[in-house]
Amino acid sequence: MPGKCVVFSPACITFSLAMLFELNLKTRSLNPCLEVIPGHSYRCMELNLTRVPSGIPNTAQTLDLSFNPLKILFSNYFSSLFALRFLDLTRCHLWKIEDHAFWGLNNLSVLILTGNPLQILEPKAFHNLPSLQRLIAVEANFSPLESLPIGHLTSLQELNFSHNDIDSLKLPVYFSCLIFLQHLSFQLNRITSISVGDLDALSSQNLTLVLSRNDIKYIELNAFAGVHLQQLFLRACFENSSIMQASIQNMSGLHVNSLVLGDYRNIRRLESFNKNLLDGLCNLHLQEITLIEIKSLQTGSSFSSCINNISMVRVVHTFISEAAYFPTNSNIDQLEFKDCQWKKVPAEKLSSLKKLKVIRITHNKYLRGFEVYFTGLLNLEVLDISVNSLITHLSWVHLLEGAPNLKHLNLSFNSEIHLKIECSGPAKLEYLDLQHTRLYLPGTVPSFLCLNNLIYLDISYTGTNVIAECSFCGLDNLRVLKMSGNFFANNQLVDNFRNLTKLQFLDISNCQLTYISLSSLASLHELRLLNVSHNKLLGLHPETYMHIPVLTTLDLHNNQLAALMEEDLKNLPGSLKYLDLSENLFDCSCSHVSFLQWAKNSSTLLQNVKNMVCHSPVDLKNVQVLDFDLASCKISTATVVISVSAVLVLIIILILGYKYYFYLYYMMVLFIGHRLSDEKVTAYDAFVIFSSKDQEWVKQELQEPLEEELPYFRLCLFYRDFIPGVSIITNIIKEGFQTSRKVIAVVSSHFLESRWCNFELEVAQSWQLVESKASLILVVLEGVDKTVLHRKLGLFRYLRRNTFLMWKDRDFSRHVFLRQLRSALLEGKTWTEEELRLVLKK
Ligand SMILES: *[C@@H]1O[C@H](CO)[C@@H](O)[C@H](O)[C@H]1NC(C)=O
Ligand SMILES: *[C@@H]1O[C@H](CO)[C@@H](O)[C@H](O)[C@H]1NC(C)=O
Ligand SMILES: *[C@@H]1O[C@H](CO)[C@@H](O)[C@H](O)[C@H]1NC(C)=O
Ligand SMILES: *[C@@H]1O[C@H](CO)[C@@H](O)[C@H](O)[C@H]1NC(C)=O
Ligand SMILES: *[C@@H]1O[C@H](CO)[C@@H](O)[C@H](O)[C@H]1NC(C)=O
Ligand SMILES: *[C@@H]1O[C@H](CO)[C@@H](O)[C@H](O)[C@H]1NC(C)=O
Ligand SMILES: *[C@@H]1O[C@H](CO)[C@@H](O)[C@H](O)[C@H]1NC(C)=O
Ligand SMILES: *[C@@H]1O[C@H](CO)[C@@H](O)[C@H](O)[C@H]1NC(C)=O
Ligand SMILES: *[C@@H]1O[C@H](CO)[C@@H](O)[C@H](O)[C@H]1NC(C)=O
Ligand SMILES: *[C@@H]1O[C@H](CO)[C@@H](O)[C@H](O)[C@H]1NC(C)=O
Ligand SMILES: *[C@@H]1O[C@H](CO)[C@@H](O)[C@H](O)[C@H]1NC(C)=O
Repeated sequence: MPGKCVVFSPACITFSLAMLFELNLKTRSLNPCLEVIPGHSYRCMELNLTRVPSGIPNTAQTLDLSFNPLKILFSNYFSSLFALRFLDLTRCHLWKIEDHAFWGLNNLSVLILTGNPLQILEPKAFHNLPSLQRLIAVEANFSPLESLPIGHLTSLQELNFSHNDIDSLKLPVYFSCLIFLQHLSFQLNRITSISVGDLDALSSQNLTLVLSRNDIKYIELNAFAGVHLQQLFLRACFENSSIMQASIQNMSGLHVNSLVLGDYRNIRRLESFNKNLLDGLCNLHLQEITLIEIKSLQTGSSFSSCINNISMVRVVHTFISEAAYFPTNSNIDQLEFKDCQWKKVPAEKLSSLKKLKVIRITHNKYLRGFEVYFTGLLNLEVLDISVNSLITHLSWVHLLEGAPNLKHLNLSFNSEIHLKIECSGPAKLEYLDLQHTRLYLPGTVPSFLCLNNLIYLDISYTGTNVIAECSFCGLDNLRVLKMSGNFFANNQLVDNFRNLTKLQFLDISNCQLTYISLSSLASLHELRLLNVSHNKLLGLHPETYMHIPVLTTLDLHNNQLAALMEEDLKNLPGSLKYLDLSENLFDCSCSHVSFLQWAKNSSTLLQNVKNMVCHSPVDLKNVQVLDFDLASCKISTATVVISVSAVLVLIIILILGYKYYFYLYYMMVLFIGHRLSDEKVTAYDAFVIFSSKDQEWVKQELQEPLEEELPYFRLCLFYRDFIPGVSIITNIIKEGFQTSRKVIAVVSSHFLESRWCNFELEVAQSWQLVESKASLILVVLEGVDKTVLHRKLGLFRYLRRNTFLMWKDRDFSRHVFLRQLRSALLEGKTWTEEELRLVLKK
């Protein structure tokens, strides 16, 4: 009943879930493993697998099957996985490996069998592994070496049999075939004695042999005679120091490049002191010795003179009082003390070691003092006193007096150092590392004046505040300057690096910089790497790039850039290979479309593009810059075009509107006039339009004779009859045209010049057409240009209803003019009774 399942019942859900689960299981059973790199690398850790999952493709090179109960590796177990190079079978409960179990794995290079309780290794178990280089079988229950069928694995470079049950170092003959072997570890096995001939089968002369944590009780005299090793680890091998001493004695004749002797911190065995502990070393041939946790040096008055001929001596985690002395006439050229609880730099004692080239005194957390300097160490080139707790005033003069050939000085990771400004001629120092040590004075005064040969200077995170422009003066040969995590005055980089013309690497990240002046980088023509990440820059000056023409790496990540401007992009040096712009405040608006386009096109140059995300606009926040849709900008380009054209059209309309303002006005007037024309009653005989410059004339020649002599006419004159506070156009229409029977236009040269009068005239003319009511009386004054007049008045002059009068300033003409005017005005006049009476009385 499939229909039932539409109903939302718990039973149905359970059923569907079960189906899903089963489906999931089915697909998973094909390949339940994690695909680390598709087709290449698979992790099938801890999946309760009992065999190789069939879903692993035969292209897989890396397969991790650890923590699965495989138990037995049968023949051809991995036959389909020909390409395997790395196979991890850690803790697979393997107890048996059958013949040809690894058949077909011709390219397998690393096999890990750690943590398997192996009981049966069939004789051909490791056959068909011609490429195997590393066999790691820690805790694999291996016992006698002879029984291990590995003699044919001639490519082996590393055999790690740590933590097994091997009880003899007697190397089987097959070791003579393992000519590439470099690492052989028998750490934590059960080897108790070493005899002459045990290492005879060793063919490699370059082997690192690890015998640490075997409880070695007996080493036969000359057991190592003639043996050549690269490195020998003998940590925590001897129960007490007398056994250790005797064992070292019996190792005479061994040639080993580096010997590591001592204990582990958590194993407290070597208690008693034996001042001749290391005397046996005289009979060994060593280049390096590392002494770790040698308790016997605790009361330590002296090192054995047998370390004299060893060129490098390292002492790690061993308490050495300052009083301990070193053999005179020593040939030691490298000396290292790590974590040795010094309180002061033992300069006096070490000054006896005239051959010293390298001194390293590191990780001593109580080491604070460095007041006494070395003397007469003419060979000293490297002095590393990093990672201590030094609080000191450093005097270049004294330091370099005692070690005039010092090239490397490392004082990094200390507490605080005051650098004195003093100088006694140019020093040979080439590398100076002061990072993470609080420094006093650099930045405020030129502290490096005599370090002309310095190539490398690291003052990162030293609390330096660069105020003085000459802070770096004297560093004429500097190539690398690392000074991240410091400060610059006003958070601005100005001319601070002026003379560092050879600088190739400059790290000024994390300096809170808000501004980098153009001149500050202008002399750095050889700059190849510039790191200004983690600052607060809004940009670099586009011309900056022109001054750094060979730049290959530019790191601007974590600043406040909104985009690179077009000029920046144009000026980027052609040599640039690495540009990190991630974690900036990108503005993904279309105003930066050229940058966004460029970014899309520059994925080989740009680093960390995943972290190049938009900061604004809000709707694009956290969108990757490279995912920005450029097409969206094209649309808005169209909108821009449209709006620009709209604005243009509007402007044109406005211009036209301004130009034809009167005409528009006139149209409006026509329209309004037409609507209102019926409503008004005639109140005036004539509306006089004239230029205000002719006002006097109007008063004398029109107003007085027409209004004060019989028959009386009433004129509409703007200076007298217009209603104040009402717009002129309304007045013209309401008070002028609408309420007047006729219109008198006083045409003078002023009239013709005035746009307003012309307009009024035109309104009057049209009015005449619209209403056949107010007919026009044109009064033309003297001195009016005839041609202009003709052009302006055109045909209206000849219209029947119009009257055309010329006025001349002569008595006779004036009389005629008035008569003509009166008769024109009389036409159509309606008389009031009183007027009639008055006229008739006359
Ligand atoms: C592992 O698989 C076996 C059967 O192959 C099963 O009996 C056992 O319970 C499984 N163990 C775990 C932890 O799933
Ligand atoms: C084994 O390695 C060689 C050289 O790296 C390669 O040419 C060959 O294809 C590899 N064989 C398999 C089966 O992947
Ligand atoms: C051998 O394996 C042990 C344990 O995994 C490891 O600590 C040691 O470094 C390895 N030795 C070599 C020589 O790789
Ligand atoms: C000797 O072994 C070391 C690693 O232990 C290796 O770096 C060096 O190249 C080897 N030298 C020779 C000559 O094989
Ligand atoms: C050193 O060799 C001598 C002579 O073979 C022997 O007597 C002594 O026990 C050996 N010492 C150690 C600690 O193996
Ligand atoms: C060192 O150990 C050996 C063997 O256990 C013992 O015989 C000897 O007395 C011890 N020596 C010292 C000085 O403790
Ligand atoms: C150091 O080597 C020189 C020759 O290189 C030798 O004469 C001297 O005895 C050796 N000193 C020690 C303590 O082994
Ligand atoms: C100085 O020492 C520190 C800490 O040991 C180290 O990280 C740094 O690389 C050293 N500097 C140089 C220039 O070797
Ligand atoms: C910078 O170098 C020029 C010539 O290379 C030199 O004349 C000038 O004194 C130097 N300035 C400083 C402050 O070192
Ligand atoms: C620049 O400096 C920052 C932090 O100081 C660092 O994370 C980054 O790797 C440096 N960039 C380059 C290219 O070295
Ligand atoms: C993108 O790159 C190609 C070649 O890499 C170039 O021809 C094209 O002009 C570039 N386009 C832009 C917009 O920079």
